[in-house]
Amino acid sequence: MYEQKLPMLPPSFELETKAVLKQLARANRALAELKGYADTIPNKHILINAVMINESKDSSAIENIITTHDDLYQAMSNASGASPAAKEVVSYRTALWHGYELVKEREMITTNMIIEIQGTIEKNRAGIRKLPGTVLRNERTGETVYTPLEGEEEIRILLSNLEKYMNEDYDDVDPLIKLAIIHYQFESIHPFYDGNGRTGRIINILYLVLKGLLESPILYLSSYIIRNKSAYYRLLQEVRTSEKWEEWIVYILTGIEEMSEETLKLVKKINIEVEIMSMEIKERLPKIYSKELIDLLFYEFYTKTIYIENGLSVTRKTAANYLVSLENEGFLTSEKIGKERIYQNKRLYDIIKFMPSN
Ligand SMILES: Nc1ncnc2c1ncn2[C@@H]1O[C@H](COP(=O)(O)OP(=O)(O)O)[C@@H](O)[C@H]1O
Ligand SMILES: [Mg+2]
Repeated sequence: MYEQKLPMLPPSFELETKAVLKQLARANRALAELKGYADTIPNKHILINAVMINESKDSSAIENIITTHDDLYQAMSNASGASPAAKEVVSYRTALWHGYELVKEREMITTNMIIEIQGTIEKNRAGIRKLPGTVLRNERTGETVYTPLEGEEEIRILLSNLEKYMNEDYDDVDPLIKLAIIHYQFESIHPFYDGNGRTGRIINILYLVLKGLLESPILYLSSYIIRNKSAYYRLLQEVRTSEKWEEWIVYILTGIEEMSEETLKLVKKINIEVEIMSMEIKERLPKIYSKELIDLLFYEFYTKTIYIENGLSVTRKTAANYLVSLENEGFLTSEKIGKERIYQNKRLYDIIKFMPSN
């Protein structure tokens, strides 16, 4: 199949059609509501961590890297016994956090940052494609549907055009519409041998943060994409073959609306659980209660003596006693993994595990 030339951005199509504008308003409204709620919460890292675990799992699942929460729990608490897929999901989460920190610090998204993110996901330094042979296939039939541009220099030119489009708002198009365009363009440049889908989905959230539509990285589309997977592949392809920009943009905007609503429900649920457990510990274990302790119990869905020891600046013995008391009162469930005792916050774990896509 011949190599198709990918046009530079901005697209020369009418993007703000009636259908797009209608869905845009809905997406913006839902996203603003999520942002408004999340902004008022004191312990944001709790929500971010929780939401990120699910996204890392889902975004990897789109690429057939399949794990379970139990598997991830193993990988996070004790890397040695974990499956390769679970380790890859943990790398994805590391890349996501790292990308977020970079964007906050630099206030831009650059080609080098994108290369770094992909390198973290894949745990290699291959960087931009140098060798020919990368093709996109129809998942079902195996037929080649698209051959992305080859040549490192050419790929870099397209990436720098994309970089400019992301960082400079010369076109006055709504950022949520631009997000759809950016995702299409990045996937079509397909700059890496592998990891393009996952890197592209990280860019989406970084872009929302860059444009100030969210303060915390908590809106992700992967679980929506899983539920509407064939449309995802079909529309990416049909923008190219049949100029179906409108359908593609509406698809992404609908995802933003649906996921904003679902995420809002999830973060409310977690927040309520933090408050309930807080009250219960205060009542039943008044001597050990502190806000900092609650924070630590919800930081991940598990904890260890060392985290309590460092987090509260207490002795190892005190930290161990705290955890035993918490387990005795039913707040945590412990299990010995390798040489360590790991304490699971089952209430948090269950909230995360039983999200719609899981
Ligand atoms: N026809 C297409 N045109 C452009 N991009 C596509 C097309 N089909 C799939 N993609 C993108 O390619 C991604 C898969 O690329 P790949 O490098 O294997 O990523 P990963 O390793 O993260 O799986 C998909 O998730 C999707 O975003
Ligand atoms: Mg892949």
